[in-house]
Amino acid sequence: VSPAFDAAPPVLHTARLVLRALTEGDRHLWLVTARDNDAFWAPFMPQPPAGADLHARFQDTLHRAAQGWADGTAVRLAAFTNAGDLVGFVNANNIVRRAFRNTDLGWAVTHAAQGQGLAGEMVTAMITWLVDPAGGALHRVAAAIMPRNTRSLALAARIGMRREGLALRYLEINGVWEDHELWAATAEEWGTAAPRSLPAVR
Ligand SMILES: CC(C)(COP(=O)(O)OP(=O)(O)OC[C@H]1O[C@@H](n2cnc3c(N)ncnc32)[C@H](O)[C@@H]1OP(=O)(O)O)[C@@H](O)C(=O)NCCC(=O)NCCS
Repeated sequence: VSPAFDAAPPVLHTARLVLRALTEGDRHLWLVTARDNDAFWAPFMPQPPAGADLHARFQDTLHRAAQGWADGTAVRLAAFTNAGDLVGFVNANNIVRRAFRNTDLGWAVTHAAQGQGLAGEMVTAMITWLVDPAGGALHRVAAAIMPRNTRSLALAARIGMRREGLALRYLEINGVWEDHELWAATAEEWGTAAPRSLPAVR
């Protein structure tokens, strides 16, 4: 495990966002954001169990993030504007090390935040940390995107990820084993592939 995992989860600053782990103090904001955006996210993302109570989901979200950080298998961050609005999530899951040093990345922004380049800012900052030898120290960051999720495909291409191919019946979304395009970035290419206009993570 990277030495970075001995400390607290990272706090990443971009031009317009702060990315950090959720805390108990975010409960109300998270509940309102989830309630307002569940239907927007539903077509593209694995869904919470039917009928799951929002408070229980928040508790589970906190637990998964803390557990994943503690055992080095996940880095799950929320994105806030400088005004304090919760605008998105970027989750690095399934972190494995040894010869693979790989993670599966997931992302979403709120409906209100869509179309402003905020997702690109958020995901770029996260990948930069994940492949930084002083950060996640990973070699490859992967993302799986449904072919009809045109906005997510455009985002992956725009920030400099590379399309690897089509994985058949890859993830179960709303009860269907959906084909997904696999996209990735490796540490070697990320420094040159990431748009230089984006601010560095400090
Ligand atoms: C996928 C998702 C995160 C993409 O969000 P997004 O806001 O379209 O992505 P970006 O941050 O790349 O923003 C690009 C848009 O912002 C615009 N934009 C405005 N200011 C910008 C700036 N400073 N920099 C870059 N783009 C900017 C671009 O023109 C583009 O708009 P357009 O697509 O209408 O042409 C979002 O649609 C989402 O959360 N969807 C639901 C969940 C989901 O599908 N998750 C991914 C599963 S694989």
